[in-house]
Amino acid sequence: MQLRFLGHACFEVGVGGKRLLFDPFLSGNPLAPVAPDQLDVDYILLTHGHGDHVGDTIAIARRTGAIVIAPFELASYCRQQGANVHEMHIGGAFMFPFGRVKLTPAWHGSAVVTDEQIIYTGNPCGYLIEAEGKVLYNAGDTGLFGDMRLIGERHRIDVALLPIGDNFTMGPDDAAYAARLLRARTVIPMHYDTFERIKQDPERFAAALRPEGIAVQILRPGETFTL
Ligand code: NI
Ligand code: MN
Repeated sequence: MQLRFLGHACFEVGVGGKRLLFDPFLSGNPLAPVAPDQLDVDYILLTHGHGDHVGDTIAIARRTGAIVIAPFELASYCRQQGANVHEMHIGGAFMFPFGRVKLTPAWHGSAVVTDEQIIYTGNPCGYLIEAEGKVLYNAGDTGLFGDMRLIGERHRIDVALLPIGDNFTMGPDDAAYAARLLRARTVIPMHYDTFERIKQDPERFAAALRPEGIAVQILRPGETFTL
């Protein structure tokens, strides 16, 4: 399984001969290392409806025919916008050609906000991807919650993608606590530095976890990590 960080909460995942894309916020992201039309993907996985996550989903899905995997309400919205979708919901898992996908809870909001209206898109979520004998956990935008311990008990997490930006999500201290609850082997911080309000020092976050044997892999936009 190969991960390429594309800035903010966007990761491209190569697994099982397929290309997956999490939360493709590229247009309007000052740190995005690629343009949306440079990507060719099979699946787009969305954690929630906010603009910094849905991002370029519709344009990429229409151009490539990629299937959008999302919680039911958000998937329904994407279908109305012309995307192929696969609806799921929290607690449910499905075996896709590349591996098993399971939706996990996340404490956050979920709505598509335009200049004219706010369209609520159900509950936000996180994702577990089990493929090639590895487990990837993407927490999505969330605060710290105790059931991360349950997720860690039920799944042997190789890599956890955790937000550290604070203000909208967990900050570095809560994310470090989350990594302990999850018993993740490696943590990749995300959702920081994109905007002034979520500036963080990922090195400080890494330093808090290293003594406990939890590896922190800091990726700059465009960098890859193989697990
Ligand atoms: Ni959000
Ligand atoms: Mn966000």
